[in-house]
Amino acid sequence: MKTILINIKKLIQVEELSRKWVAGKDMAVLPFIDNAYLIVEGDKIIDFGEMKDVPVIDDSVIEMDLNGRIVMPTFCDSHTHLVYAGSREIEYVDKINGLSYEEIAARGGGILNSAKRMEEASEDELVESALLRLNEIIGFGTGAVEIKSGYGLSVETELKMLRVIKKLKELVPIEIKATFLGAHAVPVDFKGRQTEYVDKVISEMIPQVASENLADYIDVFCDNGFFTVEDTDRILNAGVKYGLRGKIHANELDYSGGVQVGVKYNALSVDHLEFIGDKEIKSLLSSETMPTVLPGAAFFLNMKESPVRHMMNAGLPIALASDYNPGSSPSGNMKFVMSLGCINYKMTPEEVINATTLNSAYAMGIQDTHGSICKGKKANLIITTEITGYEYLPYAYTSNLIEAVMINGRLIS
Ligand code: NIG
Ligand code: FE
Repeated sequence: MKTILINIKKLIQVEELSRKWVAGKDMAVLPFIDNAYLIVEGDKIIDFGEMKDVPVIDDSVIEMDLNGRIVMPTFCDSHTHLVYAGSREIEYVDKINGLSYEEIAARGGGILNSAKRMEEASEDELVESALLRLNEIIGFGTGAVEIKSGYGLSVETELKMLRVIKKLKELVPIEIKATFLGAHAVPVDFKGRQTEYVDKVISEMIPQVASENLADYIDVFCDNGFFTVEDTDRILNAGVKYGLRGKIHANELDYSGGVQVGVKYNALSVDHLEFIGDKEIKSLLSSETMPTVLPGAAFFLNMKESPVRHMMNAGLPIALASDYNPGSSPSGNMKFVMSLGCINYKMTPEEVINATTLNSAYAMGIQDTHGSICKGKKANLIITTEITGYEYLPYAYTSNLIEAVMINGRLIS
């Protein structure tokens, strides 16, 4: 089946040849075609161009007149924890009332709170609640998402989370990548025995995750008070042996060495990056690792902001992702992530669109099929309402502005 979209006011993020990412000054460049058409066949984009060159089509082709709307590729959200049980709004209220993260954790809050609820939840309940979140973010324009485990923290419950993610892959049309995050926090029963827990991650969890083929990537929370560089080195080294490439949490709380150990193991991405200095930048510049910033978490936790402009000036690419999770970012709205990129990090609209489409596709290993309007790539499109230009999207930060989403050539909403 073929569909032609005509009279597109602006077709943005177009490319003739698929690029792996855009970096440095190129992040400010967003290729587009004014007054465009686009042809979809099956689940793929097969052609696009200016309306003046629109090809003659036969009656079998479905025509959609977009009448001045903008079209862009769907967002790729390369970092989420959207499988979780319950929610943590009580901790949010505790925080408003002045409790510190440590005080909340001492009351049984934080990641360990989610871990306790995860242990009690059934696979069916987890699938059901995650499906609601997935359908919500698809409506917000997300066409591919990475989901982590990490609220299990035991062999059995980590596997349960990953099986839920596997099930979700069958239930939604968007691309899902699964990441094993056994080293998210030290579970209660291993308190004071962190190295033993890391041993367990390496000797029991990774082999089982790999034998059931449940994960695409492996993650470690490498930061002050969580897992050390040595722990991370051991886990990434073990992951490599099972074909699991790293996508790690690094440098959120301190200059943790997380970036360098990630680069050492050729991690696909290092994420958070509030604490970035010249050493981290130098390490990233010589790598194939995508620096990924999570503006929602920094906003929600009132954290120091990642030096994004400094990194781009040094020539690095930047991806932005939502970090959708119950503790530090209870939102998977990538359009809002774009707004935060513009408002808090002084990124331009062109830069945030590059960071949430092409670069975030790379950060989840799908840049050959997603992240841009390119012949042969998936027909995953956002069709906006009638707006003046793409700058309006991050500007009007609470308006939805997404009239329809196309996934694999089919209109979803
Ligand atoms: O990415 N930083 C580590 N982990 C999550 C938080 C998870 C939680 O609090 O539940 C994050 O922000
Ligand atoms: Fe995270």
